[in-house]
Amino acid sequence: MKQNITVVILAAGLGTRMKSTRAKVLHEAGGDTLLNQVIRAALHVSPPERIVAVVGHQADEVRRSVNAPGVRFADQPAQMGTGHAVLCARSQAAPENGLLLILNGDGPLLQPSTLAGLVELAGASHLGGALVTTEAADPSGYGRILRDSDGLVAAIVEQKSATPEQLRIREINPGVYCFEASLFWKHIAEIAPNNSANEYYLTDMVEILRRHGHAIAPMLVADETELLGINTRVELAAADRILRARKARRLMLSGVTIEYPETVTIDVDVEIGQDSIVESNVQLRGRTRIGANCRIGAGAILRDCIVADGAAILPYVVADSSSIGARALVGPFSRLRLNAEAGPDTHIGNFVELKKTRLGAGAKANHLAYLGDAVIGPQTNIGAGTITCNYDGRKKHPTKIGENTFVGSNSTLVAPLEIADGAYIAAGSVITQNVEADALAIGRARQVDKPGWARKRRSQP
Ligand code: UD1
Ligand code: CA
Repeated sequence: MKQNITVVILAAGLGTRMKSTRAKVLHEAGGDTLLNQVIRAALHVSPPERIVAVVGHQADEVRRSVNAPGVRFADQPAQMGTGHAVLCARSQAAPENGLLLILNGDGPLLQPSTLAGLVELAGASHLGGALVTTEAADPSGYGRILRDSDGLVAAIVEQKSATPEQLRIREINPGVYCFEASLFWKHIAEIAPNNSANEYYLTDMVEILRRHGHAIAPMLVADETELLGINTRVELAAADRILRARKARRLMLSGVTIEYPETVTIDVDVEIGQDSIVESNVQLRGRTRIGANCRIGAGAILRDCIVADGAAILPYVVADSSSIGARALVGPFSRLRLNAEAGPDTHIGNFVELKKTRLGAGAKANHLAYLGDAVIGPQTNIGAGTITCNYDGRKKHPTKIGENTFVGSNSTLVAPLEIADGAYIAAGSVITQNVEADALAIGRARQVDKPGWARKRRSQP
């Protein structure tokens, strides 16, 4: 980068039109908050130490929500307008040299390439700055761009102050500006709240700089969707859809097959390896990482999960904060949560729940089981209907099951409990004591047969 670029992101407003108790920039699109999405774009042109977010409404929550370490914050105690918001960032935005890039915190669709283009344009020595513009199909609500006879930006007029004739202008201000920093700070005090809203309008800076003889160039961007500003939940949903589509497209171009890409919900930080297949209606959330050659079945919902190469997640698996080993077969209808760990080559079948449980390599739990707070050794078979009774009503207790053990169907394993390597648990047992290696444990009532009983019963009146 030829010049220092300081980025100021305006994020202090409440966003009244969201009809929310939460600040607008805390709302999410594409799997991250609006503010974080803007910061992601800004990080392509500046390091985090040169990015300043101006916070006001719910400042503490907004600060905490920012997930890029090193980003700075400035407080705007009362929301007196976008010009005032930038002024509040002044001390954090020092030194006052190079370029000053100013972004609205509610524009999550901005592309890094657009920012790079704007910075390049604004850096030209004969200009005081440059700003992005676009032709909006429906310009209502946005500031309109007034051009001079040279095609430069003469002024931005806000919707509220525009004449009927100006309201017909379709070229709008999406809120993406880049100024020569020293000029901007030199003249910022000239912004005055002389408008019906009684606010300090950042947009007035265009006229001010021109008055001092500095030209402001427009950078007309053809795709107006990239510049959508979020004011309502309808726009939030529209932005989310676009961000999802972009993510799916990036993954497909990197070698992932996605069936019905318009139906999947994949968060921005999710990674998927080559030749993996994602079926319809899948949700991959948070920091989920899927290896190569995996299959993620229809309707599966994975949050913050790690899936190793070659694993198959069958339809309708729900998994949180868990890991699934290479070539494992999970689902349909399995539930993994709270750091469940399924080793390589494991099989986890329908209606099996794993909570804080480690299943060793090649172990199987194919049907109807609850395995909680357990460590299960490699190659062990957990029969249908097995339950670890990990909770005594007051505390949770662990269950340890060795390798190559066989737990018969419908076993009730009362924790704390250890079943050693190679042991056998007879079907239907209630196991309350530790079982030693290679033993058979049977914990159920002995069967009693009564010959002829049924016939006798039928012959009675
Ligand atoms: C602003 C622009 C308008 C542009 C539009 C694009 C001004 C005067 N107008 O209008 O020309 O078309 O954005 O979306 O700038 N904010 C603060 N502190 C404040 C006021 C706002 O931090 O005191 C932040 C908000 O949190 C938001 C951003 O600035 O992220 C834009 O504010 P908003 O009220 O949405 O501005 P618009 O009226 O949409
Ligand atoms: Ca806005």
